Amino acid sequence: MGKPWRPPNKRRMPDEDAQILAAVRELVAEKVAPRAAEIDQRGEFPQDIRKLFAESDMLGIPIPSEYGGLGGSFLTYVRVVEEIAKACASSSLIVAVQELAMLPILIAGTVEQKSKYLPKLASGEWIAAYALTEAGSGSDAAGSMRTRAEKRGDQYILNGQKIWITNGSVADAVCVFAVTDPTKGANGISAFLVEKTFPGFQVGKIEKKMGIRGSPTVELIFDNCEVPAANLIGPEGDGFKIAMKVLDKSRPGIAAQALGIAQGALEYATKYAQERIAFGKPIGQQQGVGFMLADMKTEVEASRLLLYEAARKCDEESDDVTLWAAMCKLKCGDVAMRVTTDAVQVLGGYGYSVDYPVERMMRDAKITQIYEGTQQIQRLVISRALVGRWKG
Ligand code: CAA
Repeated sequence: MGKPWRPPNKRRMPDEDAQILAAVRELVAEKVAPRAAEIDQRGEFPQDIRKLFAESDMLGIPIPSEYGGLGGSFLTYVRVVEEIAKACASSSLIVAVQELAMLPILIAGTVEQKSKYLPKLASGEWIAAYALTEAGSGSDAAGSMRTRAEKRGDQYILNGQKIWITNGSVADAVCVFAVTDPTKGANGISAFLVEKTFPGFQVGKIEKKMGIRGSPTVELIFDNCEVPAANLIGPEGDGFKIAMKVLDKSRPGIAAQALGIAQGALEYATKYAQERIAFGKPIGQQQGVGFMLADMKTEVEASRLLLYEAARKCDEESDDVTLWAAMCKLKCGDVAMRVTTDAVQVLGGYGYSVDYPVERMMRDAKITQIYEGTQQIQRLVISRALVGRWKG
């Protein structure tokens, strides 16, 4: 008798994507993991890892092949970010922020803009950044934005400051959101692609941070910055909607980073609990620690299912991407914080030492509850998707 018939598994990864993932796994184990502690301690952007990712085509996974990318799925993209984050959260941000910053062009750019910029980003020749946040405008991204863009002839003149801009100091081009019509609220914001060589573009303060210390987070200053009108992305006034559509597809990338950090901490704590003896047996065999590990594992696997479903929804251009992106970012971020905190606890005093990786993982996890929309903003987005928005 032959094998019983089973319906084809439409959700299986295409072979090509599985190959990408296998190659990334190997590269991370050989080249990224051994550098992770040093990257954190030095607090420097790892140019060697950036080069490695560029040479391995990892910076253009979701960019279509006609623009030099791999044309891979979002599911593959999030799995790659997760794989890197297991070893080094700072390095995973190189891939995640390249995706975040190229999405405005991919979503709303003209053919000319796509042809000019996407191949440079896909190849890793250029690094890009995404500048939405300002000192007074974090969660309230539209209502409190102050950076202005005024049209003068065939240019826009930008004035203002952005803060917390990941990779801003190493970026060759930055997607900047600025107010073009202050009377129109969210519909008076526009998006621009600003090259670092445009007159009036400056890098300001470089933040010193608790975690992701190998990823530069900086202030950007626009002082009568001259941006060609051809670098307006999408129509004038569409900038906020573009920013939100981008976050719908980039929040799963941050969820993947969080999940990778959690998985890395879980693996380390599990191995430690198998080897560390107390009261005559491995601590993992003692209920207090064994049950902690059981909860950590369950939470990590549940988060993974949510994240991969959100990524599939991005691939299918599903109507409820906003909801799923927010849910996976919320769940994975909170799980990363809890699992890494518990991993430190499993290791006891050793967990608190910089000689072991779990304290770095705990520090790195915290930011995933803050950037690309705080956990409070994710809950706002989720609840609005459920019950609508009060417009009274
Ligand atoms: N897709 C398309 N359009 C959307 C949208 C979406 N997901 N979300 C909102 N919009 C539209 C609305 O329909 C509305 O359009 P109309 O005026 O035509 O009706 C317009 O945008 C304004 O929307 P809201 O009225 O809902 O806007 P709001 O002021 O209430 O704010 C918010 C919504 C969800 C709170 C938003 O401001 C937000 O997400 N804040 C968090 C900002 C954030 O995530 N920042 C991250 C920075 S990047 C980063 O952190 C990167 C890094 O370092 C790695």
